Amino acid sequence: MDTVTSRRGFVGAAAGAAAGVAAAAMAGGSAKAAEAGATTAPKVNDFFAGKGNARQITDDIWWVGAADKRLALFENVYPLEQGMTYNSYVILDDKVALIDTIDRAVTGQWLENLNAVLDGRQIDYLVVDHMEPDHSAGIDLILNKFPQCTIVTSAKAKELIDQFFEIDATDRTKIVAEGDVLELGTHSLAFVEAPMVHWPEVLMCYDAASGVLFSADAFGSFNSLDGNIFADQVDYDNDWMPEARRFVVNIVGKYGPQIQAVLDKAATLDIKYICSTHGLVWRKDIDKILDKYTHWANYEPEDQAVVIYYGSIYGGTENAANILATMLSQNGVENVKVYDVSKTHKSWLLAEAFRASHLVFASPTYNMGIYTPMKELLNYLVEHNMQNRHVAFIENGSWQPVAAKLMRNIVAQMSNMTLVGSDITLLSTTNEANLAELQDLADALAASVAGDDSSAVLKTLESDPKVVNASAGDVMHTNPDTAAVAAGTVPQTAATKQWKCSVCGYVFEGESLPDDFVCPLCGASADKFVPVA
Ligand code: FEO
Repeated sequence: MDTVTSRRGFVGAAAGAAAGVAAAAMAGGSAKAAEAGATTAPKVNDFFAGKGNARQITDDIWWVGAADKRLALFENVYPLEQGMTYNSYVILDDKVALIDTIDRAVTGQWLENLNAVLDGRQIDYLVVDHMEPDHSAGIDLILNKFPQCTIVTSAKAKELIDQFFEIDATDRTKIVAEGDVLELGTHSLAFVEAPMVHWPEVLMCYDAASGVLFSADAFGSFNSLDGNIFADQVDYDNDWMPEARRFVVNIVGKYGPQIQAVLDKAATLDIKYICSTHGLVWRKDIDKILDKYTHWANYEPEDQAVVIYYGSIYGGTENAANILATMLSQNGVENVKVYDVSKTHKSWLLAEAFRASHLVFASPTYNMGIYTPMKELLNYLVEHNMQNRHVAFIENGSWQPVAAKLMRNIVAQMSNMTLVGSDITLLSTTNEANLAELQDLADALAASVAGDDSSAVLKTLESDPKVVNASAGDVMHTNPDTAAVAAGTVPQTAATKQWKCSVCGYVFEGESLPDDFVCPLCGASADKFVPVA
């Protein structure tokens, strides 16, 4: 396929593309044209007579996605209050490119939009950025409908195509990697690899002519479109940001270093639009969402704020949580949040942990352990690599309370967690002594939220490999060094050799690769690792 040229060094190739400088001005003009409805393609109003609801992004780039407001659980896990949007884009150039397909459930809407925008033209290239079925379910349909269409995708995605579909698309597939460019005419798509954001095969692509970054799942969100397609057309902070945060941290929160690697690449590009596979298109204030992603990728809190998570069987622990919240308010702490871990889905609880700086966990003792929903939450935080927070603990128990110590042992698996105040033990209810303890904790939390960590009651939960005790008998552990993971390497010993995961690209360094080694990023076994020369 002669229109794919190999330009190793994605960033330089994209920045230096012939259309690059002129394209910046063109992209601005395109945005105005899109808002005004001026177009060289079918007019938007033409679509409302049963022809779909495609939306114009630039002069010749169109959104042909679809919303599924009926979906109750995304990935059959995450509750949706306003459904989900699946995005697919068409570039009408000398060659026509379709960027990703769509979820099977909304194929009908998508085909209406696609047909309206194509207006009889054929698809030359199907760019498969990501093979998760919410974006790839229409691949076989496109291949059947457009016999001359060539798939453009990564080598790993091709393997997944073969797994998901009973079709032999080998002769109709062009494998690309970072630095390759697909020429369409005016537009040229430069590919950038984004492994584990959020599957290992993910490619993003950047069009220098329009300044559009097709970002796969990155910068996406739960929620469905209500007509508006651009993030600046809605009350994003109130209506969308909580769902964008919940989407990102639950879906790819574990892969912060990989997200940061993508942000580092994005920082070198002149991005005018971000077109994700979910949610709204960004064309203004792009730095705002990039800043949020920087916080999430590095596990840095967005807000100096307190979130209290409690579990409660008969109300005793709940009462203590509410008393603490009230004391915090009286101490001047604003926007205190209190969550019943039995009632609020863990996806929201995780999102709040990514947002806030201070987390309080209050749990009954249950089966001589942690109350089940609280234990599930804490393990969920560990799974998603939660780090860099201040924490406090309240336990309850009518005859032998043990929950606080056990909660600290789970939290100790997270890196750089700082203990505020002393554990508070309730014996069934909050007594006078507990009230004084809660006031002390509220004082310590209020001071810490205000930036004063000098209080004598603060202890840093330093942890493995140094392994120190936060209090007598409690061993703390830590995850691999974040910076090392970001660099793609986690030194295991005095490094002499390297093995690279063939699934996600993670590099293991050491004298030998253990037979039972499991990739910490994608879970691949040792036989998936190949020696690095
Ligand atoms: Fe929206 Fe990873 O698929």
